[in-house]
Amino acid sequence: MARYYDVIVVGSGIAGLSFALKVAEAGRKVGIITKKNSAESNTNYAQGGIAAVTSQTDDVEMHVADTLDAGDGLCDEAAVREILRDGPASIEELVQRGVDFSQLGDGRVSLGKEGGHSKRRILHVRDVTGKAIEEALLHAIEKSETIETLEHFFAMDLITPLKVPGCDADELGSNRVLGLFALNTQEDRVETFGAGAVLLATGGIGQIYQYTTNPYIATGDGIAMAHRAGVEVQNMEFVQFHPTAFYTKDSDRFLISEAVRGEGAILRNMKGEAFMGRYDARKDLALRDIVARAIDSEMKLSGARHVWLDTRGIELEVLQDRFPNIYAYCQSRGISPDTEMIPVVPAAHYLCGGVKTNLNSETSLPGLYACGEVACTGLHGANRLASNSLLEAVVMANRGAKAVVRYLDSVHSREVDLPVWKDGDFRDSDERVVLLHNWDEVKRTMWDYVGIVRTKKRLERARTRIQTLEREINEYYWNFKVDESLLELRNMILVAATVIDCALQRQESRGLHYILDYPEKSADFGNSCAKRAFLK
Ligand code: FAD
Ligand code: SIN
Repeated sequence: MARYYDVIVVGSGIAGLSFALKVAEAGRKVGIITKKNSAESNTNYAQGGIAAVTSQTDDVEMHVADTLDAGDGLCDEAAVREILRDGPASIEELVQRGVDFSQLGDGRVSLGKEGGHSKRRILHVRDVTGKAIEEALLHAIEKSETIETLEHFFAMDLITPLKVPGCDADELGSNRVLGLFALNTQEDRVETFGAGAVLLATGGIGQIYQYTTNPYIATGDGIAMAHRAGVEVQNMEFVQFHPTAFYTKDSDRFLISEAVRGEGAILRNMKGEAFMGRYDARKDLALRDIVARAIDSEMKLSGARHVWLDTRGIELEVLQDRFPNIYAYCQSRGISPDTEMIPVVPAAHYLCGGVKTNLNSETSLPGLYACGEVACTGLHGANRLASNSLLEAVVMANRGAKAVVRYLDSVHSREVDLPVWKDGDFRDSDERVVLLHNWDEVKRTMWDYVGIVRTKKRLERARTRIQTLEREINEYYWNFKVDESLLELRNMILVAATVIDCALQRQESRGLHYILDYPEKSADFGNSCAKRAFLK
């Protein structure tokens, strides 16, 4: 028996929760499906803050100009203008929901600075902005009577008429979303969910890389689900590497916020030289792609495993009050940021591409919406301006919620008998080892061959490896009883394939995509589109 909701929201980060609240406030029944506990999301780890124009000395047009500059010619200017214009109102709503942004001693809001911003415009809650937002939104969700949250449910695949036996698109008026399959990971069974509309708010893809700032949930599930359903996915080559993650010998990569450089921290190489002036006039506050490439180049020149972030010029009081979380982490790793430099390296951080949407968060499949990091609205173009993602998520959730309510009012909804999942029943513990091996191989392949500086040869090598893994995983998928790690690996492989596919299409260097074979920017390339038939 399927469970039915007006709208199913997949994901409980800022995008999913904001959308769910708005749809419920419009009187609709919402089911939130989330694969871990509700708070576990990229949102929960966001540090620097949320960018929006709130000061008298700032102006939305300046925010627009900075965003366009970062996007390197690939932003949709109309989208940039609309999303940023909605920013201040969305901030006000977050405040109404209880987000207590940090203030200066005189009661004015404290505004941080990050790379590429011409003004101080980042609202923050010390260095735990994401946690504060997540808590406020979850608190509001708890109070709602029309939202049901299902934790430990893993959304697997969308159901469309094409997947319902004996039912075709024409019979229902058009091809559209009817629901989805989700694995109840605590009871180990797949359940069917029916819905008038579905929102994908599944976040990013950082886990396809060996080193990432992202938590374990970031395996690109929503992008893979959309891609398998034939929905347009674009600009996947634009993976943003954050310049400064704390270097450890293991694969942990705790973020050291760009806001620390905003307060005066300086990058230094192994000789102690402040090197950023050689790469960009904005020095340590240059755009992220420039800083990450500069660090990569310094590390290659010296053979060192990291560079240093020198925080010794920042007052201890500022370090402790503004960055308590970062300060505590460094201390736990034996570094006192007031007297010692922090070892830092770039790590995969954010995906600028994703499921293509318009300004109503509508995808190319009727009834399917996407917002937050999973979506590609045209705001970021080839490189995201720092702290624009939390803003985009909340603005687009609000716009999408209005659109979905209109859609539900207009659509001719007919109850359809949805299919029941048929599981393979084969389990072989030896084969689990192979899965684990393949998991590592995806991450290593992407890190080594599809990283900050790319070449055609390395991308082609990555494609060959990922194609082999894709064949293997597809065989597993249809024969084995599914579990979370199998589902995640399948998604990661597909998402890796789309990144490589888009990277190979783009025979130019632009924004985050830097390829030695084509070092110049070319007018011949617009948005890339992830093709469906990767496996040949
Ligand atoms: P997420 O917050 O990642 O939420 C995704 C949700 O989907 C999670 O609940 C997850 O469990 C769920 N999910 C995923 N797959 C499935 C599935 N198959 N089934 C069910 N549920 C699923 N941006 C800024 O603007 N400012 C910052 O200061 C900032 N700092 C950052 C610091 C760090 C360390 C990181 C990692 C990112 C940071 N970012 C920042 C980026 C920003 O946090 C994210 O882009 C944003 O939070 C994404 O929100 P989201 O709602 O789209 O996705
Ligand atoms: C940071 O705090 O440096 C992360 C900000 C972001 O990713 O936008």
